Amino acid sequence: MDDLAALARELDANDVLGGFRGRFAIDGDTIYLDGNSLGRPTIDSADVVGNVIDRWTRDLVEGWEVWIDLGTRIGDRLAPLIGASAGEVAVCDQTSVNLFKLASAALDVRASESRTSIVTDAGNFPSDLYVLQAVASARGGDLRVLDADPTVDEIAAAVDETVGMVALTHVSYRSGAMFDGAAVTAAVHAHGALMLWDLSHSAGAVPVELDEWGADLAVGCTYKYLNGGPGAPGYLFVASRHHAVLRQPIEGWFGHADQFGFRSAYEPADDIRRFMVGTPPILSMAAVEAGVAVTSEAGMGAIRAKGIRLSDVFLDAVDRLTEKHELSVITPRDPAARGSHVAVRTGNAYQLSQALRSRGVIVDFRAPDVIRFGFAPLYTTFEEVTRSVAVLESILESGAHLAFPSGRAGVT
Ligand SMILES: Cc1ncc(COP(=O)(O)O)c(C=O)c1O
Repeated sequence: MDDLAALARELDANDVLGGFRGRFAIDGDTIYLDGNSLGRPTIDSADVVGNVIDRWTRDLVEGWEVWIDLGTRIGDRLAPLIGASAGEVAVCDQTSVNLFKLASAALDVRASESRTSIVTDAGNFPSDLYVLQAVASARGGDLRVLDADPTVDEIAAAVDETVGMVALTHVSYRSGAMFDGAAVTAAVHAHGALMLWDLSHSAGAVPVELDEWGADLAVGCTYKYLNGGPGAPGYLFVASRHHAVLRQPIEGWFGHADQFGFRSAYEPADDIRRFMVGTPPILSMAAVEAGVAVTSEAGMGAIRAKGIRLSDVFLDAVDRLTEKHELSVITPRDPAARGSHVAVRTGNAYQLSQALRSRGVIVDFRAPDVIRFGFAPLYTTFEEVTRSVAVLESILESGAHLAFPSGRAGVT
């Protein structure tokens, strides 16, 4: 591995994003490869959350003059990162809740043409599967679940005249495989359905061009590659051409055309606010804004280029272990077909993930047999990548992981 270690040092020395690591609060020398689950805090997050508390202390309820439209303000800053236009994105609620709202709104419109079913794939995040199942069955349709990571043709073939919407996670939380957003959206439209993307593993990691793809709807979270913090609110995207038509099922005062008119009847706002519901978590939102700002400064081009290189170095290093040890990479090799984490399948995966964590390499385990290695280009170094594989090798050589309990416990 000496040659890879030397390459890693050279890549770090020439890394155009190298300076961004200093924008994150980093405690100790843990190798953190789980930014695909929870990103690191930005240095600014403590300050901006503190600023909210200062304003709250000083201005009390009048602080709402500044906070009231934070969801759409951050949405406008986030929009360019996912190829959307100003006015098409709002930060609010959780990803699961936003998915429920948008999927319900879309299917209600399509139900008039008897299109009440939804197509997805088995690789979709479980929460998405639960929500989509409930949305389809409430309208008399069903959820058609394709095998994980289907091709464009397989998706198109599943969209018959009873399907109102296709909902997919752009980068699979498990395999790390990435769909061709433009090709899938076009195929789905050609068969008469709407396209909804879950961008939780995409925003801040890979380029997304929602408007260019012609996407109808999208949701995503801010606590992974956007570094918004634990439990930070998600976001939703609705293409502006749908604003006048779609109505989501949770009609709350933040979605009202005249929020402070306090009228008894609901009348939806005519813009993206109609997809919002209630009072947003301002302390969390402040940290989201800081995360979005750092990502915007770095730019998605540089982030994606480094993300591909980080995973290439990892794949080259891991390939050397697969000859001797029972490991297989399930993430596609083609950079155009993968996101920013690499999934490795192995027996004793849970024990191995625990052994890695005990030696300062933080990865995660996805049942039943996958370990995910996540590369966050804003703060992961090439040297961390090669060191993590060296630690993996030494554990496999010694069998040290077999001493860890095999029963899954707590958060994995
Ligand atoms: C792809 C994907 N969708 C949805 C969710 C659920 O998000 P939330 O718990 O914020 O609703 C997650 C959580 O990790 C996810 O990875």
